[in-house]
Amino acid sequence: MTAVRQRQRDLGLPEAFEWVHDNNPELLAVARSAGLSVLEAPLMVLDPTALPPAAELGGPAVRILDPAAPGFATDVAVRRAVAAVGFAAPGTETGAAGPTARDAALVELPVDSLDEERARTAAGGRISALVEMPGEGAVASGMALRVDDVAEIAGIATLPSARRRGLGAAVTAALARRLLDDGTNLIFLSAGSDEIARVYLRVGFRRIGTACIAEPAPAAL
Ligand SMILES: CC(C)(COP(=O)(O)OP(=O)(O)OC[C@H]1O[C@@H](n2cnc3c(N)ncnc32)[C@H](O)[C@@H]1OP(=O)(O)O)[C@@H](O)C(=O)NCCC(=O)NCCS
Repeated sequence: MTAVRQRQRDLGLPEAFEWVHDNNPELLAVARSAGLSVLEAPLMVLDPTALPPAAELGGPAVRILDPAAPGFATDVAVRRAVAAVGFAAPGTETGAAGPTARDAALVELPVDSLDEERARTAAGGRISALVEMPGEGAVASGMALRVDDVAEIAGIATLPSARRRGLGAAVTAALARRLLDDGTNLIFLSAGSDEIARVYLRVGFRRIGTACIAEPAPAAL
């Protein structure tokens, strides 16, 4: 693991490891002894028969981003800003940060990143979603990464000011529904904690194991 970290550093890549704990339980001790901080995340797979119909969930419409639309660049920047503000307030509690914080986090994407995002989206390898509310703009977002008939849902985030209204569940369900409609057979995700896993449980995901996500521990102050 130390050698791989050195190689990641040499290549300018993030020092990060992910594995399924149930398949390789021995890696947990190795990662910790290498000084990495390890998140043990509920690994969940969608049971398609348990995905509630959109009408049953209620709530606002979820917009799937269209790579051919003129507003795609702005939409992607907004999705990233919502995620940045959402992940800066971990957990599921509500908070003060809302549309003003999102707008302050907006960053225009470099042209090559945007081209890559557009190409991946057009090819079906990436699906992005936003929930917009009147007077608030985009308040929740998420994405899916797909390879052939397998996809991971990731980056589900709701602005703290808009939490506990069912938006995180609605974004997850809309992405799952689109993936199923596109012929995806296996849809999985790693939940950040047991409490976050409850959001996914309600839209048909079932825990099948533990995903370990290891990164360098934050430097002590
Ligand atoms: C996790 C996260 C996306 C959930 O978003 P959310 O929009 O608040 O999710 P939901 O509203 O669907 O569900 C959250 C809770 O609100 C409750 N809720 C849903 N609709 C509600 C309503 N109308 N009134 C009251 N409570 C409601 C849900 O039952 C759930 O309660 P629980 O914690 O007891 O299970 C959000 O908290 C977040 O962005 N966290 C930080 C980023 C993160 O960790 N993302 C997940 C990575 S795996």
